[in-house]
Amino acid sequence: MGESYENRNLIENIRSQFPILSKKIHGQDLIYFDNAATSQKPFGVIDRIKTYYRNENSNIHRGVHSLSQKATEDYEQARNKIASFLNASNPSEIIFTKGTTDGINLVASSFGELLNEGDEIMISAMEHHSNIVPWQLLAKRKKLNLNVISIHESGEIDMESFAKLLNDKTKIVAVTHISNTLGIINPIDEIIEKSHEVGAKVLIDGAQSIQHEKIDLKNLDCDFFVFSGHKVFGPTGIGILYGKGEILNKMPPYQGGGDMIEKVSFKETTFNKLPFKFEAGTPNIVGGIGLGAAIEFLDSIDHESFIEHEKSLLNYAQEQLTKIPNIRFYGQSQQKTSVISFNVGNIHPFDIGTLLDKQGIAVRTGHHCTQPIMDFYKIPGTIRVSFSIYNTKKEIDLFIRALKKAISILEI
Ligand code: ALA
Repeated sequence: MGESYENRNLIENIRSQFPILSKKIHGQDLIYFDNAATSQKPFGVIDRIKTYYRNENSNIHRGVHSLSQKATEDYEQARNKIASFLNASNPSEIIFTKGTTDGINLVASSFGELLNEGDEIMISAMEHHSNIVPWQLLAKRKKLNLNVISIHESGEIDMESFAKLLNDKTKIVAVTHISNTLGIINPIDEIIEKSHEVGAKVLIDGAQSIQHEKIDLKNLDCDFFVFSGHKVFGPTGIGILYGKGEILNKMPPYQGGGDMIEKVSFKETTFNKLPFKFEAGTPNIVGGIGLGAAIEFLDSIDHESFIEHEKSLLNYAQEQLTKIPNIRFYGQSQQKTSVISFNVGNIHPFDIGTLLDKQGIAVRTGHHCTQPIMDFYKIPGTIRVSFSIYNTKKEIDLFIRALKKAISILEI
């Protein structure tokens, strides 16, 4: 089964912008199905990084000289682009971080300072470790209670469990928009609305959704939204924490250093306004500018068509995989993005992953930084395939053939 003619042109145009896609691995054309771990980078991003280091490199917010002013302008323009892409009220609510993990740690540490003994935090059983451990550390430090919303056997969040745990002691609910392991899209609108009814703030882990969903922060009304640039065609080491200005203003600084200060003396230090209050030290300047280029790339494509394309890849792969004997899927829902986790019989996921790699196919195997999900299903790990806008049904056909070959070798 191939793409429709129209779609094929669209996809070929996109693929031509990603140089790595013409690479060979073990002599085979690369088939990159590990997009939930990180996305590939288009020329626009790669070239922007190169141009910055060749022609523009300088520190920002510090110099009167031309290079510094240009770098400052480009960095701040990237922030503006990101704010408007996310439909945030104000660019000052967009904080540059190292990535999703850094953003969650910032909120847990700083917002956490406003919490008192006995207050409650809520997360779900499907969270990535980075949306578990910062809250555990905070709960221990401040003597708070950490509650976990359970999930159903399908992997879907148990909304009755959520309702039961929610009460007026709940101060923050931190949930993932889309599970990186299961691909399930959570009902975050309902979670945000119900949490706000009891006065709890909501942090959405958007690490996976940023690539697959159109995010409209004004409409979503969450209090915090975090993501990593590298999951959305941008560089690694850069991410975004969005926070509502009124909340960020009440939070104490996270780290001390340059840029986050207004006035320093040995007697007293006062702090800079948002967003700089949370950006201590020379930031990842090229990362921010590179993320701006990634957002420009996203703005240049027809997002709706690509969401449709990814959905059709998901359905097609699911259909083909279902025909494989002894396959077991983890994460079954009508609300799913293009991530599929599975195992075949008793074959160790690592063995299948290795044999797929030998055939040029990149998938992720293991616990995907979600050990509690593995414990829930009593498995050591899964094989995870995750598709992006540049993947094709032809690649899925080749993957299915390679998977069958791997199974036939391992079952002997
Ligand atoms: N969180 C990333 C993943 O799911 C690394 O693979």
